[in-house]
Amino acid sequence: MSNSIVIGAQWGDEGKGKIVDLLTEKTDIVVRAQGGNNAGHTVITDGNEYILHLIPSGILWPEKKCVIGNGVVMDPISFLEEIDGLAEKGIIVSPDNLIISTRAHLVMPFHREMDAYKEAAKGDGKIGTTKRGIGPTYGDKVDRIGFRLHDLIGDPVAFAERLHKRVSDCNPLFESVGMEPLDAEAIGKELLSAAERLTPFAADTVDYLHSAIKEGKSLLFEGAQGTYLDIDQGTYPYVTSSNTTSAGACTGSGVPPQKIDRVVGVTKAYTTRVGEGPFPTQNDTLADQFHKMGREFGATTGRKRRCGWLDLVLVRYASMVNGFDDLAITILDGLDDCEEIPVCTHYELDGEKLRLPPASAKDFERVTPVYEKLPGWNSDTTKIENYDDLPENARNYLTFIEKETDTRVSMVGVGPSRDQTIIR
Ligand code: GDP
Ligand code: IMO
Ligand code: MG
Repeated sequence: MSNSIVIGAQWGDEGKGKIVDLLTEKTDIVVRAQGGNNAGHTVITDGNEYILHLIPSGILWPEKKCVIGNGVVMDPISFLEEIDGLAEKGIIVSPDNLIISTRAHLVMPFHREMDAYKEAAKGDGKIGTTKRGIGPTYGDKVDRIGFRLHDLIGDPVAFAERLHKRVSDCNPLFESVGMEPLDAEAIGKELLSAAERLTPFAADTVDYLHSAIKEGKSLLFEGAQGTYLDIDQGTYPYVTSSNTTSAGACTGSGVPPQKIDRVVGVTKAYTTRVGEGPFPTQNDTLADQFHKMGREFGATTGRKRRCGWLDLVLVRYASMVNGFDDLAITILDGLDDCEEIPVCTHYELDGEKLRLPPASAKDFERVTPVYEKLPGWNSDTTKIENYDDLPENARNYLTFIEKETDTRVSMVGVGPSRDQTIIR
């Protein structure tokens, strides 16, 4: 059986949830390997909408197993809230269908506060984070002072002691800017009570995944965020704090690279971004149009997404660094009404032609996107089921993307529902 990774080729929200949901049918186990509840993955099936944050989208398929790997940062309280929210919609999450790595780092309440504190301290230079405490949690991980799941469930006394120390270190900082100090006692109680519900989910997920591979089961890695939010390859510092690119699936799960058979890149037929940072093809008229239609609002924070034309410099480099075998192009239907569609093929910077992104965010802000204008198709694609039935100009648009990125288009989204995806 084959193992696949699904990765966003832009700044997140490419429609990974929908593509993962579709591919789950032919998969045994769906794995999250990085990020945390900063993610918001929308899946629409049989008219019901689900937004998954920390829990893999595979949970919507009753007979499938889900894994939260060691590379994920998990907020225990928000995890339990997410489970309860799904239960209200009839989706039962239990240790029978989900396990969590004991090596996963915990997002603690002081990490959330620290996220808010750091954003406020940056002023105009803020990142525009989701304020879920993701950056400070990964920061502590790398600083080797983090809290892992095994700490919480394995040694509550030592956990409480370390918690008290960290909270008393953080409080003066919070108070210095008028934020409320945290109550270590109350936090400890809340987390230790959460630990009772969490313990049955905790497992050695590396052992589990390797045994599954030996038994011939297939794995699907659900990427969160996107290539340009990657801590190394993204528009640093306007990024998240994990490796969102395909290699992160391996380090974040303990499954080695030679077990991976396919990497699927997901890109919208245009581009969006939430939060601050460079966005060369941003176009406010397009954004207004989408927002008036009720589209392109963040699935996690509800913020308006910035919108712009398709940027092939981004997708080209994403295909290189992730090793995309094929591309899923989502929301092609979003361009159904366009007379003409500008597509950015390269940038110009100080008189030079750039076919790949610059390293520095400052240079990224200065580039001039150079567009090729392709004719639109001006017709409704939302009911089309076969690739060959797409309007000629839509097929030409997709062929243009394939040529410019040297990557084959294997799937095309023409609407938000599970069944509105053309498999080529
Ligand atoms: P993710 O974070 O990559 O999973 O993406 P999000 O769920 O945050 O955002 C993608 C949005 O696009 C969601 O509202 C999806 O329901 C929607 N969507 C996904 N694919 C399509 C598509 O092909 N057409 C349309 N119209 N909407 C889509
Ligand atoms: P999915 O998985 C879009 C953005 C935030 C901010 C930056 C850093 O749904 O595609 P963080 O809270 O991670 O420290 O914020 O990253 N961001 C996302 N943008 N989709 C996401 O996830 C995102 N997760 C984080 O808006 O700009
Ligand atoms: Mg999203």
